[in-house]
This record gives sequence, C-alpha cells and structure tokens, in this order.
Amino acid sequence: MKLKDKVAIVTGSTSGMGRATAELFAKEGARVVVTGRDEKRAKEVVDGIKAQGGEAMYVIVDASKTEDNKILVDKTMEAYGTVDILFNNAGMLSMSSLMDVSLEEWNKLWAVNVTSALYLAQLVAPEMKKKGKGVIINTSSVAGFDAHHGFVGYITTKHAMNGLTKSMAWELGPEIRVNAIAPGAIHTAMVDSIGGPDVLGGMKEGSPLKRIGQPVDIATVALFLASDESSFVDGQILRVDGGIEI
Ligand SMILES: NC(=O)c1ccc[n+]([C@@H]2O[C@H](COP(=O)([O-])OP(=O)(O)OC[C@H]3O[C@@H](n4cnc5c(N)ncnc54)[C@H](OP(=O)(O)O)[C@@H]3O)[C@@H](O)[C@H]2O)c1
Repeated sequence: MKLKDKVAIVTGSTSGMGRATAELFAKEGARVVVTGRDEKRAKEVVDGIKAQGGEAMYVIVDASKTEDNKILVDKTMEAYGTVDILFNNAGMLSMSSLMDVSLEEWNKLWAVNVTSALYLAQLVAPEMKKKGKGVIINTSSVAGFDAHHGFVGYITTKHAMNGLTKSMAWELGPEIRVNAIAPGAIHTAMVDSIGGPDVLGGMKEGSPLKRIGQPVDIATVALFLASDESSFVDGQILRVDGGIEI
C-alpha cells in the first residue's frame, strides 16, 4: 500500500475527482478526511470507503469560510492526531465574463479556489514541518495557463493557483513537497453543470487521446504526487489533459 497509515485531507471530496481520490487514497491505506458542503454525499463517500475496509471521516466545510477551514484541521487533528497529505481540490466554476462578473462572485471564487488552499496550508504546515515530512497538492486547471472569452474569475484564480503552488514549494520545503494538478476536461458534476461532456467536444477532438477524462484519471496522478514515488517532484504544475495543446 502506497499511503499506509498516512492521514489525508481531500477537500471537495463529496463528488468528482476529489471523491475518486479519497476512495483511492483509502484503498492505498490512508485515513481520509472527506469534505464538502453536502452532508448526504459526504456520508455516502465515507460509508463507501468503510464498506471496502478503509478508514475515513467527514467534516462539513464551506471552503469560503475561514472558520470552517480551521474546524476541518482541528477535527482532523482531534480524530487522527496528524496530517500527512493535503489535497486542495475544492473549487467552484463561474462562467461570467469580465464586464459581467459581480464583485461578490469574484470574491467568492477567490475565497473558494485560492484563499482556502493558502489558509489550509498555513494550518497544516507546522505539523508537517514538525514531523519532517508532508505533501500538499493543489488543483489548478488548463485554464491556469490560457485564457478564453468568459470565465474571467475562474481563469484568474486557476492562474493564481500555479503561482501559489510554486511559492508554497519554495517556502515549505525541504520538509513539504508541493505540486499542482492541472486537469483538462474531466467528466464530473462541474462539467455536467455547463451542459455535459458534449460541450467539451472541441477539447476531446483537439487532443491526441480523443477522449474526455474520468475522475480516476486525476486520482491516480494525485496518488503518485502524494506517495514517495514522486519524492523528487516539487513545485510542478502537472497537466493531466489527454495532451490537448501539445
Ligand atoms: N471537471 C473538470 O473538467 C475540471 C477541469 C479543471 C479543473 N477542475 C477543478 O477540479 C476540482 C474538482 O472539481 P470537479 O470537476 O471534481 O467538480 P465537482 O464534481 O463539482 O466537485 C467539486 C467539489 O468541490 C466541492 N465544493 C465546491 N464548492 C465548495 C465550497 N464552497 N465549499 C466546500 N466545498 C466546495 C464540492 O462539494 P459540495 O458540493 O459538497 O460542497 C465537490 O465535492 C475543482 O477545483 C475544479 O476547478 C475541474
């Protein structure tokens, strides 16, 4: 098992790639903390992990709320006594364009997509440094490299995640390794909310692999970055996108 006895917080794990990662981490021996706002789905994920013989708990968190992020780390420490892995995966999508995005929506995007990742890292880093070892994985996007018409808040926050990842790697090393995953089109509820995989046909046809990704395609990369197999990989933004735009 690649994560035996490790404690992993996976934010946004009530659904999509976070859920697939929580399930895979548990299968690899980690004690997993599942988070999100939806208690029914959080419980479902934890029950599923336990039914497979794994160990997990959930903490209901609105990532835009500072106090919820603090409670998440406090409850993890209380239950499992440490944190080895933090996967900052929770994220929200906004399709608003530059002239339309309200400041309220803009600030919410920053709070959920960026500030929560920074604050959780601040909260877990002292414990990881004390242990002499830890891993943080952030979720960027292919939208963290390029821009298109619309999506200005989403694009901006994902660009910010790339800078945050590199800053974290510099400031939290040598004990803590920090990398980011930049997914391409992955079939999750987020994609369904904008019309399903068909609206991403261009991304599918424009890639050598000619398919939309599945949550497990991200989970397996997260496992690689969380495990010692990637022990010399640091500060990288790893595109997992079927090869679009190569
Ligand atoms: N799908 C793609 O093609 C794609 C591409 C590039 C990047 N990404 C990124 O990948 C990450 C995961 O997205 P996904 O595609 O797996 O979407 P998803 O299935 O919709 O999952 C999103 C997760 O984030 C949680 N979340 C959203 N807003 C939250 C909030 N305010 N507080 C706490 N949790 C919140 C959701 O939990 P609750 O609903 O329970 O709150 C859910 O567990 C995101 O950062 C997204 O930006 C996705």
